[in-house]
Amino acid sequence: AQEEAFRVAFRDRDEPSTAARRAARPPADAAGSIPFANTPDTDPAVGVARAWARGLVARDVPVPDGAVTVSTTDEVDAVVARAASALPGWAATPPADRARALHAVAVALEDARADLVATMVHETGKTVAEADPEVSEAVDFARYYADRAAELADGTVPGAVHRPAGLTVVTPPWNFPVAIPVGSVLASLAAGSPVLVKPAPQAPRCGQVAMAAIRRGLDEAGAPGGILTVVLSPEGDVGRRLVTHPDVARVILTGSIETAQLFAGWRSDLDVLAETSGKNALVITPSADVDLAVADLVRSAFGHAGQKCSAASLAILVGSAGRSDRLRRQLADAVASLRVGPATDLGTSVGPLTEPASGKLLRALTTLDPGESWLVAPRQLDEEGRLWSPGVKHGVAPGSWFHTTECFGPVLGIMRVQTLDEAIDLQNAVAFGLTGGLHSLDEGEIEHWLDRVEVGNAYVNRHITGAIVQRQPFGGWKASTVGPGAKAGGPHYVAQIGDWQDSADVP
Ligand code: SER
Repeated sequence: AQEEAFRVAFRDRDEPSTAARRAARPPADAAGSIPFANTPDTDPAVGVARAWARGLVARDVPVPDGAVTVSTTDEVDAVVARAASALPGWAATPPADRARALHAVAVALEDARADLVATMVHETGKTVAEADPEVSEAVDFARYYADRAAELADGTVPGAVHRPAGLTVVTPPWNFPVAIPVGSVLASLAAGSPVLVKPAPQAPRCGQVAMAAIRRGLDEAGAPGGILTVVLSPEGDVGRRLVTHPDVARVILTGSIETAQLFAGWRSDLDVLAETSGKNALVITPSADVDLAVADLVRSAFGHAGQKCSAASLAILVGSAGRSDRLRRQLADAVASLRVGPATDLGTSVGPLTEPASGKLLRALTTLDPGESWLVAPRQLDEEGRLWSPGVKHGVAPGSWFHTTECFGPVLGIMRVQTLDEAIDLQNAVAFGLTGGLHSLDEGEIEHWLDRVEVGNAYVNRHITGAIVQRQPFGGWKASTVGPGAKAGGPHYVAQIGDWQDSADVP
């Protein structure tokens, strides 16, 4: 797994998987007008998705059966005991059979595409253009992890046998309420570990619809019933009992750094794989293709209303790029032109926030610190505080609150520096190290940046969100990650959910 702990750099715009094909977008329009990231009409793939979804998002999807609601710690104990009893049988199931089950799951997820998109739109405010590729990512995870499961067979690593970690609890986030739980659950199942999954309280229905699809695939393949349990519970004592239960071997968390710290406080020896927060910057140098840089910046900052751990929260403009009226005007026009509205409106580029803006995000949307001014001022468009037009602030100062704080919403800050090294220093000055981008057409600058930037996913001349399974394994450095560090959607993720034991030691 060693090489995967190193940064993965992605330099090429040729993206072959289903998710990428669906997300593909021509770089700029031929007439030379300002290219708007996320403008659906410039993107044939999104157009197809919208046509397909027409009529679909008008309805909500019924909640499937099968989730267990636990309200007391005794009920948690009973659910854990039932799930743990599935471990010996599933761990002993040959990896090739586990792989077959995951391939059946891929088909079931693809069949559930319409329901999954509609549920994301209704429950979380995710737009169709963002929800549809998320289903593709879930399908990609199923196929990719199926193939990784097959690699765990005896003899794959000479002299070593793979032993699953054991009963695993998955606590996914609300912002990718389908792809991330599906990926974490399927990686665990691929590795031979039964799973208890607790969907995010903000998106339980997405989790339930996705897990019901997985269940159908597993049933189709004849996999045992007890290996996947969906648990709905309030936070507090019950959630704590689940995460810290002595019979739970491993926790896979995707969420904020605060949640990771909460879990660590509950049990200091918790065996956890966590992907947490980011404060991600895209650097633009004077050599950049400005049209492309602006389009990628807008897409990275405001896709899913900025509610991605991978989102660009800072643009660092180097030298004359920082003084360029053209860049500033294009950015302001592109942002002001994004269509903000309900997710059920198929023309929407920026939908409502999943929860009303509060805390750090509300501060970022409503407050300017010394030296800052609005290039595009955000506006609250509803009573509730969920619908905001995106904002861009100039003059973010090195070391200021906005420079270092993850705000998780539709606000982008601009910083200006004289040299690429100063830009890299600002980019590396934050605690997190998840994604980062460089727009430059100068090979020397690109090499210089790649050698120094401290992020897990480094993107050159590309948007910095939307990692592609297999092609762009996803995971951070520094405070953005906890655990051994193999990346989701990468070659070692499944194998790390367990240990390789010397076969001489295995009876
Ligand atoms: N994998 C997502 C992305 O790359 C974030 O979770 O945007």
